[in-house]
Amino acid sequence: MNTKSMHFPPNFVWGVATSAFQIEGAAAEDGKGLSIWDTFCRQPGVIADGSNGDIACDHYHRWEADLDMIAGLGVDAYRFSVSWPRVRPTGSGAWNEAGLAFYERLVDGLLARGIKPYLTLNHWDLPEALQAGGGWANRDTVARFVEYALGIHARLGDRVVSIATHNEPWVMAHLGHEAGVFAPGIKNRRTAMQVSHHLLLSHGLALQALRAAGCKARLGIVLNLSPMHAATDSAADRAKMTLEDGQLLRWYLDPLFKASYPQDVLEVLGADAPAVEAGDMAHIATAMDFMGVNYYSRSVVSAGEPWDVMSSGREITDMGWEVYPEGLTELLVRLHRDYPVPPLFVTENGGAFKDELVDGRVHDEGRTRYIEQHIEAVAEAMRQGVNMGGYMVWSLMDNFEWASGYEKRFGIVHVDYTTQQRTLKDSARWYQGFLQQQKQGG
Ligand code: FCB
Repeated sequence: MNTKSMHFPPNFVWGVATSAFQIEGAAAEDGKGLSIWDTFCRQPGVIADGSNGDIACDHYHRWEADLDMIAGLGVDAYRFSVSWPRVRPTGSGAWNEAGLAFYERLVDGLLARGIKPYLTLNHWDLPEALQAGGGWANRDTVARFVEYALGIHARLGDRVVSIATHNEPWVMAHLGHEAGVFAPGIKNRRTAMQVSHHLLLSHGLALQALRAAGCKARLGIVLNLSPMHAATDSAADRAKMTLEDGQLLRWYLDPLFKASYPQDVLEVLGADAPAVEAGDMAHIATAMDFMGVNYYSRSVVSAGEPWDVMSSGREITDMGWEVYPEGLTELLVRLHRDYPVPPLFVTENGGAFKDELVDGRVHDEGRTRYIEQHIEAVAEAMRQGVNMGGYMVWSLMDNFEWASGYEKRFGIVHVDYTTQQRTLKDSARWYQGFLQQQKQGG
């Protein structure tokens, strides 16, 4: 079975994805406020190449040409995020008309080109002014987020197809507040768990508020999920695997679909468990119209020495992540089996590879193969009964890869950061051809 002979349903949504901080640049233009990533990047040593998001792909100025490029790929949808501090610089108080107008032009530009806008409200760039008041660890931020969601709905809600509240709450909570390797760079497990609870609560309350305001867009959340495998069959490895499955998957899926946190994880957390108020869990479990799954690789868990990724004999991407497409099928089938999930979208999938631009071409066979194999894995999940709504490549173009700076390239379009020139890689050409085939009925 390969993608050449695959027929996806005609309403299956094909897309490409980006996020605001990673592509926009214009960090201090037209009244935009600082985000926690603007300030985090200023700390010495936290970003691999010492870079920041000040210019990034300069998409804030080049959005029109970028939309033409997206349209040229033949995709149905574009997943992007709104920068909260661009539209409401301090996260409370005055709104920034220039920022709102930018996203209005972007959404109208997509619609004019026949591309469905898939909007994410929070792809990590919290207004710095809110962080100064405790950020996501402060329960007040939940109410600010609901206001933000309603403000975006008031301007764009009639034109976007889909609104995701948060992108990858585990990453914000754990990498941002426990490991401290992402903004805001805090290292405290208790704080991280409270952050995860506030993110989930703000998701549920935003959904309720958006629906009460008559929002017609399809509402959901985007999670980063990996199937967990034990490195060996030993009891210790299996126990660790179950716990990590609890921390990464069930900690988010159980509250969203069963209105409770997993007992085994709560026990391990002890006094670090979050403070939960009466009614919170029911709010979190507010029904969703879709759920987004970001998938890059599986996780292999060992109770002793960390598992060596080289030992699997699989291809490894430039991030050091194992290429493991069947893990995507396994994950989607498990979600379908264990939870009453709404239609699932792969909202991110792709790979960083060492690309070389030679004579205007990038022969990125590794990335092309990666995408093709993962699309096949989605088709297999559908054959096994999973209700899938769409698939989106991460990413449209090379961009600011967080703590890795500009060193890791995920784009199907190459970006020359000196000239800002965009060049379609072979993977983009492949995707274009594949989508054309799908449109013609396979
Ligand atoms: C995900 C993020 C996305 C991108 C990819 C590689 O965790 O959502 O912004 O950085 O990883």
